[in-house]
Amino acid sequence: MFIGLDLGTSGVRAVLLRDDGSVRDSAEAATPVAHPHPGWSEQDPADWIAATRAALGELGARQSLAGVRGIGLSGQMHGATLLDESGAVLRPCLLWNDTRSHAQAARLDADPDFRRISGNIVFPGFTAPKVLWVAEHEPEAFARTARVLLPKDYLSFWLTGRAASDMSDSAGTAWMDVGRRAWSDVLLAKSGMRRDQMPELLEGTGIVGPLRPEVARDLGLPEGALVIAGGGDNAASACGVGALAEGDGFVSLGTSGVLLAARDGFAPAPESAVHTFCHAIPDTWYQMGVILAATDSLNWLARVTGTRPADLTQALGPLRAPGRLRFLPYLSGERTPHNDSAIRGALLNLDIASEQADLTRAVIEGVSFALKDSLIALQSTGARLDRLLAIGGGTRSRYWVELLATVLNLPIDLPQSGEFGAALGAARLALCGVTGAAPSEVMTKPPVAETLLPRPDLTAACEAAHAAFAAAYPALRALP
Ligand code: XUL
Repeated sequence: MFIGLDLGTSGVRAVLLRDDGSVRDSAEAATPVAHPHPGWSEQDPADWIAATRAALGELGARQSLAGVRGIGLSGQMHGATLLDESGAVLRPCLLWNDTRSHAQAARLDADPDFRRISGNIVFPGFTAPKVLWVAEHEPEAFARTARVLLPKDYLSFWLTGRAASDMSDSAGTAWMDVGRRAWSDVLLAKSGMRRDQMPELLEGTGIVGPLRPEVARDLGLPEGALVIAGGGDNAASACGVGALAEGDGFVSLGTSGVLLAARDGFAPAPESAVHTFCHAIPDTWYQMGVILAATDSLNWLARVTGTRPADLTQALGPLRAPGRLRFLPYLSGERTPHNDSAIRGALLNLDIASEQADLTRAVIEGVSFALKDSLIALQSTGARLDRLLAIGGGTRSRYWVELLATVLNLPIDLPQSGEFGAALGAARLALCGVTGAAPSEVMTKPPVAETLLPRPDLTAACEAAHAAFAAAYPALRALP
């Protein structure tokens, strides 16, 4: 048996896989996020360990874990976990949606070497500018930094005692030569970093090492079970849904929104603000558009209206053409296509008659239009998407998925019996890493429960509303 652990932003999910690759069970435990100042987003790595214990404890209470041979990891990307010489955490982890380091990011991005070598814009959410922010604002913590680890790699360090990372997650640091799948000494030096502060680089199926005996006992896992490097959550999700080859892709409605296309080769296009990263499978890359607030936008509306997100979407009834009420989902700034950490969200055309359901529709329309912007950016790089698989918490709303199919003008497949996304991908990477099985055999596409097609009667209205949405960004940007 194999376990996949996905360290998400809102919690840790553990999936237990049988040797034949089928899912036996899964469990989850929540993790808090702190926003101590506008634009800041932090987590205490101790909470990741506590949630890992809780999720594995729940799994172990229902299933025997005695036959577990491998544990694969997946996690929220880009976070900077700073450790001292003894491996102790120096400050809370700065997360992927933390935009405080926008000035440092702009400075690094102005040096053409970063886009040339890393294949990507240096976004404020990436790791390098965050560590530069720490160097400039918390010089004592920076001076004591012996190692910087991505969130899932901190978990792997705790599990094994070895500091290692995988290609797909490391591609989001801005310290990597993404085409060559290696750390770049040029980019490290230009960021004030040293190679000895970096973890060793493995492919996603690479073996980090066996569990530390005391951790194995603590977690109720067999001693000798191997930890496998795994992947950043988007690459791991792609492994979970079998998106490995050109034409395959998915749309994820999670805290962030992601439109991902698997690519046959490395074809960076930083000017489009899409991300070009290593896949978790050797010699493979992928591209994606990322929007920072997908279900986070709906969560925001639920919070300020004192409702639950699911109640908001359940109240909607059948799909309608977008009205004039418009929501710009830039609650934490935006990555694709604007690369703008200063922009903030907006509600336009509020009417005296606007009701809560109108606001809900506007919010999920705004997120869908932002994903359409990502689709246009991806298509500009030559990425081909024929259909999409939908994953993430937001896909529980049928209204949202049908709207998205119509806005993107692509068929959207909903996987059968839920999906386990990144945690399943991590477990599959563990299976391949331990047994040597071929990823193409193991990482199959899930059975589709239902395909939602674009609604021809609403396509023109969605196109017009998207055009109005796209025109609002420059106007909003121009406001003082
Ligand atoms: C990707 C990104 C997010 C996080 C969310 O670049 O920042 O999708 O990985 O977990």
